[in-house]
Amino acid sequence: MKVAIPKEVYPGECRVAGTPETAKQLMKLGFNVLVESGAGENANFTNDAYIQAGCSIVADAPSLWAQADIVLKVRPPQLHPNFGKHEIEFLQEGSTLIGFIWPAQNQDLLEKLAACKVTVLAMDAIPRISRAQKMDALSSMANLAGYRAVIEAANHFGRFLNGQITAAGKVPPAKVLVIGAGVAGLAAIGTAKSLGAIVRAFDTRLVVREQVESLGAEFLKLDFAEDGSGEGGYAKVMSDEFIKAEMELFAAQAKEVDIIITTALIPGKRAPLLVTQEMVESMKQGSVIVDLAAEQGGNCACTHPDEVYRYKGVTIVGLTNLPSRMAQQASQLYGTNLYHLLAEMGGGNNYQINFEDEVIRGALVVHKGEITWPPPKVVPADTKTSKQEDKQKESSDSSSPAAREIPAAAVQTSSLSSSGQSSSSSDLWLLLMGLALLGIGISAPASFLSHLTVFVLACFVGWQVIWNVKPALHTPLMSVTNAISGIIIIGGMLQLSGGSSLSATILGAIAILVGTINISGGFLVTQRMLKMFQK
Ligand code: NAI
Repeated sequence: MKVAIPKEVYPGECRVAGTPETAKQLMKLGFNVLVESGAGENANFTNDAYIQAGCSIVADAPSLWAQADIVLKVRPPQLHPNFGKHEIEFLQEGSTLIGFIWPAQNQDLLEKLAACKVTVLAMDAIPRISRAQKMDALSSMANLAGYRAVIEAANHFGRFLNGQITAAGKVPPAKVLVIGAGVAGLAAIGTAKSLGAIVRAFDTRLVVREQVESLGAEFLKLDFAEDGSGEGGYAKVMSDEFIKAEMELFAAQAKEVDIIITTALIPGKRAPLLVTQEMVESMKQGSVIVDLAAEQGGNCACTHPDEVYRYKGVTIVGLTNLPSRMAQQASQLYGTNLYHLLAEMGGGNNYQINFEDEVIRGALVVHKGEITWPPPKVVPADTKTSKQEDKQKESSDSSSPAAREIPAAAVQTSSLSSSGQSSSSSDLWLLLMGLALLGIGISAPASFLSHLTVFVLACFVGWQVIWNVKPALHTPLMSVTNAISGIIIIGGMLQLSGGSSLSATILGAIAILVGTINISGGFLVTQRMLKMFQK
């Protein structure tokens, strides 16, 4: 099967959908990779590098698309400036296009694609479940955007971000406020913190507070009982009263901070307006605002999308191409997301579109000329499982909220069938255990029975104690093993104090020694891990 990587034609787009490295990986999956001449030059990948990786270079877009079974793109197809034709016209009937499509905003494009009898997978519609993280291009790009937002802010901010004491005087650290702590917001917090700034952050979803604090930033609190967590770990629209209270908080912060980075977004909605013109006017001269939501209408009233705009001494960065400004890295990450998607689809040898695979079904927007977006909406039922998934992936936008609900449904189906099976097998186990206990009760001596009762109770209590331990050390496993060691030490101490036989006393002492080594080792390792992240 032939995979084609064309040159992006969107003005200023420097990314490319595959790098020599990701092309090599695609070849290992059994694909032949064709690359348009010069496709990677804006991301610093030469034709030679692609040739060395084993790709074939094709001179121009029409001849490349004509040979392709699968076309990998970054931006949605558009009018080709060199040929005066829409890129869709280059697509062969029966071929597949994979890239950012934004189906909710591009209904027209979907219809045109369907008319060409092709298949289209939208990278922006990949459901946000833990299994699909490696294919989640929105997160990869938002991570880069958050990092780059701080770099852009530092570029326009004429001062150090960190505090310094120099012979020429003391420099206070810059204060950075990050509004919205999703993927981009958290990346911005981490970057600003590592550059030495004082970082504060606010998000409507209280669940991100711990993440913000673990990055060393202060989570701003609002005296208002409303949580912004919506379906699938995304934000929901807040009440007017909440937004008012939130904006009062930002108004006070605006006077104090030097840099504001806004990333607030609710999937499928216009970005909430959170920084007003008055707030901008109240900021110190030389302050900077980076509005990552510029493309969705902006979080700041003074944002000019795609522009760096100066308003009354404040620089407002409304750039919408931040990942493209780090094209080499962005292409590598995006190309890797694509590679994982194609691997999920069976690679070159077993390539198929599996409707049962929730990731593929979520991303599939056109199938053989039929529009398949939005994917079927199913009400999530297993809240526990979806909560676990949310925790792993509380992040960015998707143009298809419905797509995110499929996995929960899949989880529901599998949990229903497995719970049916497991309940009958656990009944059997209970029956067998009951019979065994009855047999022991009739035949065993009384002392054995009392020991057995203590043993069973100890197992039950120990299980509850251990599994309810809150992970405070660097891994949950370490916390659990420390809890087990704690119980062992208590057992050992009881043996020592209870006037037991010599051998039991020795065993008790050994248990205490080994348990103590394990517990202190857990704390030592955690301390070392923490030191690795401390500057
Ligand atoms: P996300 O959905 O992970 O994060 C958005 C966060 O905003 C969520 O945590 C949400 O709870 C929070 N939020 C929503 N309403 C809020 C409110 N009223 N007050 C405070 N917080 C609120 O999104 P992600 O992936 O982090 O992206 C953030 C923004 O960056 C999006 O607008 C995205 O389109 C944009 N972006 C911009 C790029 C650029 O080049 N400018 C590139 C990539 C992403």
